[in-house]
Amino acid sequence: MPSDSKLKTVIVTGGAGYIGSHVVYHLAKTRQYKVVSVDNGHNSQPESLTRVSQLAREEQASETKPADLSDEDWQETNNIVAKNADLTDGASIRSVFAEYGKGKIWGVIHVAAWKAVGESAEQPLTYYANNVGATIQLLQIMNEFDCKRLVYSSSATVYGIPPKVPIPETSPLGALSPYGKTKVMCETIIEDLCTAQQEWKALSLRYFNPAGAHPSGRIGEDPRGKPFNLLPILGQMAVGRIPPTLKVMGNDYPTVDGTCVRDYLHVMDLASGHVLALNKLAEERSAIFADKNKQFKAYNLGNGKGESVLQITAAMKKATGFDYKLEITPRRAGDVPALIADPTLAQEELGFKTSANLETMCADLWNWQSQNPNGYAAVNV
Ligand code: NAD
Ligand code: WQD
Repeated sequence: MPSDSKLKTVIVTGGAGYIGSHVVYHLAKTRQYKVVSVDNGHNSQPESLTRVSQLAREEQASETKPADLSDEDWQETNNIVAKNADLTDGASIRSVFAEYGKGKIWGVIHVAAWKAVGESAEQPLTYYANNVGATIQLLQIMNEFDCKRLVYSSSATVYGIPPKVPIPETSPLGALSPYGKTKVMCETIIEDLCTAQQEWKALSLRYFNPAGAHPSGRIGEDPRGKPFNLLPILGQMAVGRIPPTLKVMGNDYPTVDGTCVRDYLHVMDLASGHVLALNKLAEERSAIFADKNKQFKAYNLGNGKGESVLQITAAMKKATGFDYKLEITPRRAGDVPALIADPTLAQEELGFKTSANLETMCADLWNWQSQNPNGYAAVNV
């Protein structure tokens, strides 16, 4: 990168994964950031970022270069640096920061984590090591390299069983699973760091249920092994990758049709929220931090609307034309009837808005899944 570059270098951990790759795409599209992804491939393929670079380059052809951006910077925004490194390995992560030098990484979006709720109950120590241990190490290395701006990937799971729905950020935190607890712990650690060192600024984004894919269908969700979230399951059923019977886990909840209600939001909308969060961190003393001695805040990223399992399945049937078979089974342990965000704070303070409806989300998911029935695997074998 040229020494007089105007681009801000941002590290995205987990940048090759589902949400990370869409975040990297949105950052590249701003033409203000040089993006470095740090991912160990635990649940991703390098092909995702190759495609993000291609998309960003192709779309640039119809854009006008801002007058204040050099030709080199203009091109550089498409060159996503993909580092294969494990966040639990301090030496590898330190070497990534060292390559750029002290004070040269403007900020970090920390997306990387393991996220399987059931697995986390079976292997709590590996989850605490990968999600909490790695985060502490990352924060220490950021401190060493004078990099003190952070956006953190949190989750609605921090709320556990919320006393009221839609859920405001002030709702008590009470995660039920070890996975969820890693999110609460990381938020606490980051908040404490921001209290102790006032030059630190961090925003935690509590995602509700992300779904969909880039509208081109070239990047999307490609979990290794069997999917366990509703929409990837429905997507894989429709391409015949897994058997066509959806186990509807409980139809006796106090909801519109007895099945659980969730706040599904398009991954493109979710990813755009990260750019808004970085914009806030760029402000000298942002008004969002009421306590001037602690620059930390958490925001819900959701639609503020709920859809039931049956409503989602009907929407996917419409998008795919696939005739899903349904089998009603007992409730899944730990499921709560309804999780819906109160997104007011993010709307008012970050300018966050969701533009995609359920139909678009399902159509985009299908566009990705039908073009890539086996995910990215086909290009890597
Ligand atoms: P993902 O598995 O697709 O992406 C996570 C990425 O992090 C993967 O590419 C993985 O290889 C990488 N990674 C994991 N551990 C790592 C380590 N030790 N070192 C380097 N890389 C590592 O998952 P996702 O759905 O994109 O989720 C991203 C983040 O969003 C996670 O923090 C997750 O907890 C959070 N989140 C996800 C959802 C959801 O439903 N997808 C909802 C709420 C919050
Ligand atoms: C949605 C609904 C199921 C599969 C999880 C994590 C949460 C967050 C998002 C990371 C539920 C029902 C599902 C199936 C079904 N991730 N379902 N049959 O549970 O809301 O949230 O992902 O932070 O932490 O817990 O999402 O997609 O697993 O389930 O009936 O085969 O679909 O019971 O009501 P969930 P999900």
